[in-house]
Amino acid sequence: MVWSTAEMPDQSGRTALVTGASGGIGLETARALADRGARVVLACRDMERGLAAAARIGGRTEVVRVDLASLDSVRDAALEVRRRIDRLDLLVNNAGVMFPAYRRTEDGFEPHFGVNHLGHFALTGLLLGLMRDVPGSRVVTVASLAHRVAVAGPVPADVRTAGGYRSVAAYGRSKLANLMFARELQCRLADAGAETVSVAAHPGLSATGLWHDEAPAWLRPVSSAALRWLGQPAAGAALPTLRAATDPLVQGGAYLGPGGMSECHGGAVPARSSWASRDVIAQIRLWELSQELTGVRYARDAARRADRQPVVEAVR
Ligand SMILES: NC(=O)c1ccc[n+]([C@@H]2O[C@H](COP(=O)([O-])OP(=O)(O)OC[C@H]3O[C@@H](n4cnc5c(N)ncnc54)[C@H](OP(=O)(O)O)[C@@H]3O)[C@@H](O)[C@H]2O)c1
Repeated sequence: MVWSTAEMPDQSGRTALVTGASGGIGLETARALADRGARVVLACRDMERGLAAAARIGGRTEVVRVDLASLDSVRDAALEVRRRIDRLDLLVNNAGVMFPAYRRTEDGFEPHFGVNHLGHFALTGLLLGLMRDVPGSRVVTVASLAHRVAVAGPVPADVRTAGGYRSVAAYGRSKLANLMFARELQCRLADAGAETVSVAAHPGLSATGLWHDEAPAWLRPVSSAALRWLGQPAAGAALPTLRAATDPLVQGGAYLGPGGMSECHGGAVPARSSWASRDVIAQIRLWELSQELTGVRYARDAARRADRQPVVEAVR
C-alpha cells in the first residue's frame, strides 16, 4: 500500500515545529500537519514570509523567527518556543540551503554545514527538554539523496572552508551530517530511556526554491529538465517527512524516501543510505564536534561507546 496523507493519524492535541516552513517542502509539511489538527509552529528566518505561509495554511499555526545561520538566533528562537509551549510532540528539521555562494555563517562556519547541520543540532538540543518525556514524540531530520556523494562525514577542516570551496561536495557532506545526526540522536535517546525517537527522511527531487534561489546559473537548465522528468511537486516530496513524523509503524532510526525510480519520486518507503552514513565512529565524532562548535550539550546525554551496535533502521 502506498502511504498517503489519508493514512496520517489525527494530530489534534499535538504540537509540531517545522523549520524552513516558509516555502517548498517545509510549507507542505506544515500544511498537512495543520490540516490534520496539529498546532504548528513555523520556524522561519523571514517573519514576513513565515506569516504569509501561515496565512496560506490556516489552522492552528504561528510563526517563530529563527536564522539557522546564527547560533544567537537559534538560542533566541528556542527561548521563545519554550515561552509559548510546554511540550513539543514533533520537531521537523527541514530548512536547508544548497549551493550558496561562499559566505560564512554569523559564527564563521561553511554555510551548508552551519545552516543544514549545526543550526539544527543546536535547535534540537535546546528544544529536546520539551520532548523527552512526551510519549510518541519524534525528531525528524531531512537529509537528501545527495548524502551519497559524500564519502565521509564532515571533519574540523571542512567546517570553516574558505579556499577550495566546492558547493556540491559541501552540500553532500551537510546532508550526510543530517543523516548521521539523526542516527546518533536515536542511539543516545534510546540509551537515556527517552520517549522521543529520531527518524530521518529525504524528499527525492522537487522543483522548489532550493534549486533556484542560489544555485549556480549553469545548473539551472540541467536541473529544470531533470526535475521535470524525475521530480515531484513539493506536496508529494513532503510525504517521506510526514510518514516519518506520524506513521505509528515507523520506528526510531528509520530513514524514509520516495519509492519510485532512483528514489526521486513516488510514495514514502524505507530508503537506501550510504555506508558512510552508518559509520558509528564518525557519528560519534560528528556529535562531539557539533557540541564543541555550537556550545550546546544535550541534557542527560551519556557518552556513547563506539563498540555499541548501530541502530536498526526499521518500519515495522
Ligand atoms: N527540493 C529538493 O529537490 C530536495 C532534494 C533533497 C533534499 N531536499 C531538502 O529538503 C529540505 C527543504 O528544502 P526545499 O526543497 O523545500 O527548499 P526551499 O523551498 O528552498 O526551502 C528551504 C527553506 O529553508 C529555509 N532556510 C534557508 N536558510 C535558512 C536559515 N539560515 N535559517 C532558517 N531557515 C532557512 C528557507 O527560508 P527562506 O524562505 O527564508 O529562504 C526555506 O523556508 C532541505 O533540507 C533540502 O536540503 C530538497
